[in-house]
Amino acid sequence: MDPSSLSNPHEAKVDSIHMVLSVDFSNSTLSGYVDVHTTLQSDNVSQLILDSNHLAISKATTVDNQPLTHQLGATHEVFGTPVIVEIPVASRGANKQFTARVYYSTTKASPALQWLTSEQTAGKRHPYLFSQCQASMVPCQDSPSNKIRYQAEITVQAPLVARMSALFTSQVQNGDLITYHFNQDIQIPTYLIAIAVGNLVSRDIGPRSKIWSEPEMVEKGAYEFANTEKFIQAGEDLLTPYIWKKYDLLLLPPSFPYGGMENPMLTFLTPTLLAGDRSLENVVAHEIAHSWCGNLVTNRYWSEFFLNEGFTVFVERKIVGRMYGTEMFEFEAINGLKHLHDDIVQFGEANPLTALRPNLEGIDPDDAFSSVPYEKGFNLLCYLQSLVGVPEFEAWLKSYISHFSHQSITAEQMRTYFVDYFTEKGKKDSIANVDWDSWFNKPGMPHNQVEFTSALGDTAKELAKRWVSTNGEGIGATEFKVFNSQQKILFLDTLLALSEGKSLPIETIEKMDQLYELSSTGNSEYRAKWYTICLRSGLTRIQPKVTAFLIEQGRMKFVRPLYRELNKVNRELATSHFIQHRDFYHNICSKMVAKDLQI
Ligand code: BES
Ligand code: ZN
Repeated sequence: MDPSSLSNPHEAKVDSIHMVLSVDFSNSTLSGYVDVHTTLQSDNVSQLILDSNHLAISKATTVDNQPLTHQLGATHEVFGTPVIVEIPVASRGANKQFTARVYYSTTKASPALQWLTSEQTAGKRHPYLFSQCQASMVPCQDSPSNKIRYQAEITVQAPLVARMSALFTSQVQNGDLITYHFNQDIQIPTYLIAIAVGNLVSRDIGPRSKIWSEPEMVEKGAYEFANTEKFIQAGEDLLTPYIWKKYDLLLLPPSFPYGGMENPMLTFLTPTLLAGDRSLENVVAHEIAHSWCGNLVTNRYWSEFFLNEGFTVFVERKIVGRMYGTEMFEFEAINGLKHLHDDIVQFGEANPLTALRPNLEGIDPDDAFSSVPYEKGFNLLCYLQSLVGVPEFEAWLKSYISHFSHQSITAEQMRTYFVDYFTEKGKKDSIANVDWDSWFNKPGMPHNQVEFTSALGDTAKELAKRWVSTNGEGIGATEFKVFNSQQKILFLDTLLALSEGKSLPIETIEKMDQLYELSSTGNSEYRAKWYTICLRSGLTRIQPKVTAFLIEQGRMKFVRPLYRELNKVNRELATSHFIQHRDFYHNICSKMVAKDLQI
């Protein structure tokens, strides 16, 4: 049973849902009904229990309109309110199909949705809605252990366009209303049900891909993510054929709280990736990798999130490595290890949440979020690969994906499949000493680290060290200017690490800025790191740039650490700025910043 869900798929398993919903921007609600199709798992199942999170449930009926008794259970602060539908005696029985039609509406407090006014969009003329389904926008069994198919009919005011993480099948216009029809006929976990509504246009970027966004961003997006098809092909080459038919991208408004979200057929992306030089395209490679790791083979429990994210980071870097050489694989691994180290310092190295498989009971998953499942998960796979050999490990990965496709699995199943596979291949001795218990359960940095080497990385680190030891004496502009974007990021990260505790003198910062023009860069990754370095050095002239960046975009990766840094040097500014602009942020982001700033 999934501890993060109050529902009962083990008794009445939801197989598919059919949503019929209207989007109402004047009240910020999505309302209508959902048909929940289930298969009863044994003779005496008398209830269907669904999760709901700040959804207003009005009634339950059968599909032919006969009333069904329903009640709401006790509300859990994180997991929401269970909706309990009584199954009529005549409908009970093992293997019987039972359908409940649940009428509901989302509310202002529904965490799944963000409603933007026209002013909050790029075009300023039409409102916008998007989901981020930490908690679902529809009553359902909201557990990654249960996969379902879905269909939807979404009615919006013309000329707005709706898109979902499903195949768009048709649209019907009726006066000034348009109803869009969608079908997702591959089983997916409910956290992948997604919707966006707005003034959306698209452009082809590949044989199975379009980019979607407001008209203002579509050209930039088409340029930035031109390598999409190559990434998909590299993924197919590495793993199994891509089964999702379409792979579209949707560039969201700036308050989208993540870098990307792997909604099937329609990856959601932050506009902070629009660097103009494709330097942040690895996020697309990452979301593509989820088409296999996460979307096909899914973590059964959120405590084993590394089965989604660690595997995805590994495949992302393999894809990048195949396109740009293994040096890039190693390089990104080094960058990743730094992030892991920083997060483990931030959480504390004995903090149980820094274990690869943490115990999440009673913990809000947003509080537990860190690079640990990503980077420790990645390191585990690199370590296993180092024991059996690269081609052998890649063959196992292919086999693992084929074997567990369409399932939700545990880390234990993954381990067993690995051990059995290589035992059969005669490699029992090579893997005999893997300390699985420490890998899965011990907090802190991985105990068995694979060494990554990168000459490009060494050059970047060396320059950062030279700045610290010489305060820039004798350093010119060119060394930095010829770096690729990953090197620049590593350079800034190394400076950050070296300046921890003892910040760089303001004169050094000013000199660096003159040479490298970092204060005027548009690249969001450089900006976030550079601003942190400046804040730590007490360069007050940077503060207006920081506050401007904090309301230009709402990506948590940038917003949370920058508010924390600003708070250290100017608490008054940090808190008043946040309070004034709180409504700009997505509810998850605003919740986390409020916690970080202790407001
Ligand atoms: N699935 C995640 C985003 C996510 C994580 C949503 C946790 C909700 C809860 C997505 O695939 C992701 O990891 N995105 C990263 C980019 C990546 C390159 C590490 C991000 O958002 O920065
Ligand atoms: Zn991911």
